[in-house]
Amino acid sequence: MRPRITDTTLRDAHQSLWATRMRTEDMVPILEELDKVGYWSLEMWGGATFDVCIRYLNEDPWERIRVIKSHVKNTPLQMLLRGQNVVGYTNYADDVVHAFVDKSAECGIDVFRIFDALNDTRNLEVPMKAVKKTGMHAQASVVYTLSPVHTNERYLENALRLQDLGADSICIKDMAGMISPYVSYELVSLFKEKLDVPIHLHTHYIGGMAIGACLKAVEAGVDIFDACSGPLAFGSSQPPVETLVRALQGTEHDTGLDLHHLFEIANYWEDVRRRRGYERGVTRLSAMQVFDHQVPGGMITNLVSQLEEQKALFRMKDVLEEVPRVRAELGYPPLVTPTSQVVGGQSVWNVLLGERYKIVPQEVKAYVRGYYGQSPAPIDQAIQHLIIGDEEPITCRPADLLENRFGRTKEEIADLAESEEDYLTYVMFPQTARKFFEHRKKMRDGEGQAPLEGLQEEERLPRPAPKPAANQATPGAGAIRMPKAHPSQASREDEEMNLEDVKEFIRLISESEVNELHIETAEMKVKIKKGTAGEDNPFKTAGKSRPGTVEADAVETAPAVSDRLDVAAAGSMANLVEVVAPMVGTFYQSPAPDAPPFVEVGSRVKEGQALCIIEAMKLMNEIEAESPGEIIKILVENGQPVEYGQVLFLIAPEA
Ligand code: CO
Repeated sequence: MRPRITDTTLRDAHQSLWATRMRTEDMVPILEELDKVGYWSLEMWGGATFDVCIRYLNEDPWERIRVIKSHVKNTPLQMLLRGQNVVGYTNYADDVVHAFVDKSAECGIDVFRIFDALNDTRNLEVPMKAVKKTGMHAQASVVYTLSPVHTNERYLENALRLQDLGADSICIKDMAGMISPYVSYELVSLFKEKLDVPIHLHTHYIGGMAIGACLKAVEAGVDIFDACSGPLAFGSSQPPVETLVRALQGTEHDTGLDLHHLFEIANYWEDVRRRRGYERGVTRLSAMQVFDHQVPGGMITNLVSQLEEQKALFRMKDVLEEVPRVRAELGYPPLVTPTSQVVGGQSVWNVLLGERYKIVPQEVKAYVRGYYGQSPAPIDQAIQHLIIGDEEPITCRPADLLENRFGRTKEEIADLAESEEDYLTYVMFPQTARKFFEHRKKMRDGEGQAPLEGLQEEERLPRPAPKPAANQATPGAGAIRMPKAHPSQASREDEEMNLEDVKEFIRLISESEVNELHIETAEMKVKIKKGTAGEDNPFKTAGKSRPGTVEADAVETAPAVSDRLDVAAAGSMANLVEVVAPMVGTFYQSPAPDAPPFVEVGSRVKEGQALCIIEAMKLMNEIEAESPGEIIKILVENGQPVEYGQVLFLIAPEA
């Protein structure tokens, strides 16, 4: 029997080795050659590719499918669909799943490999139905992992259920390179014996078992396996196609692929790799210890770049030790998106913050509440209680609780969306999508943007004159306002006050014995008269002129500020509590784009009350007040990046 091969170079390989940074322009020149190889499919799209396109590459992910499709006429294009999570990190309502699948098929996806991180088949029902409706190939996955509760019998049960749901083929998805050649043989044999549909093996090279696992799978009768071009193989990526083709040459399982042609393609990828300065797949000891810690390739790459971002790469070893502990406590979820983020993120905070479960990302809370599906084993009761208290987790299919609201979500981005694809992009990654669309618009407007920038520079100077309400330009309450995006941005000179200015300001106020202070910085000129919270107070003046805006919220309580400044002058200003960012990330004032802010200036907060979100490592981390008090100042704008230790809020503690 002649096994077929799926080439993952355009998706999983660069996701595993290059943090998914391959660009469409890097792919185009070789597509027609790839199309001639005779692959079963080309995997070229999926969650991370989608995310990275709009977050880092400024590329439209939908356009990438169309471009590839225009060059690849014969070989089916394949995407990885995260079940009910689509290409995101959380469950979406059924209408979103249908719309996304329809659009993907329309753009050119032929094979949908669908998986659920928890192997909860309820989460695959709707995505599979959606794919079947388009007439495309629905490949359902059994996620392979090691744990006391994951047995071959259990995988078979899963696979039989998926076949009943209409799977056109079944993929054994070993995202961590954990499947040994002999288990591969047993599992594939079992599946071939009990199932009627083709079996596909997906594994990762990591510690080197992948080549053996593929060969033994072939012996057991696997129909298709995944590999990639040599320059993007090895390490945490797929096994090299050249090696596997050669290993099977001249046997009854000869793939029939032209090795010489494969090397010509490999030469092309080697050039791309060098030109871009990307790394080769290398198995480091820490990666090989996957046999121990079970952290999958993509997740390791992510942990490395995320720890780098947190300037804590030296804690990698501790994080890799924490991962299995957290995983066991959370009921042995397989480490694949999005549960890899759930376990990985929690593990990083447990290590970096020096206290386990001190910060629990929203996604981890949702997982414990049952919103990702059923955990493979029960969650540790003590940990569950620590995270959600006495709350009862849900037991239904999570998406049953989600209202179809794609239509309403569309309204939120009607100002920038230009197509059905844009709406889908926005649904998946609202904040990133908005930034992406804003940038696209700016690029297209080209010179139109220059005078606006100039104007903003001008208007940075303090001006007493009233200005229009900023929220008029911001459609939808709570919509994310992007810095430098709206013309209204120009009218926020009081926010130009940066942290250093505020510190200096407080220091001068509290030290000075004079009545009047002038503090000047390059960007700010604030004039405060001690004891007169009147016309001369720039906060108050601004507040009167701009009611109803977020900025105005910051100034409407100006009397309180000036009162405090009075007190400060008397010497107690030092009592203000600084809430600092415990991590590097992006600051958000609201729990979601369409939600009101957690707190505003003047809000009284209780101990443990959420103040903001910092998005880090693709997780939404709620930052809580450590003691009760009143918010005096919010020092960061919505959507702005924050550094570790950066002051976010000033709080006057309750006496
Ligand atoms: Co993979």
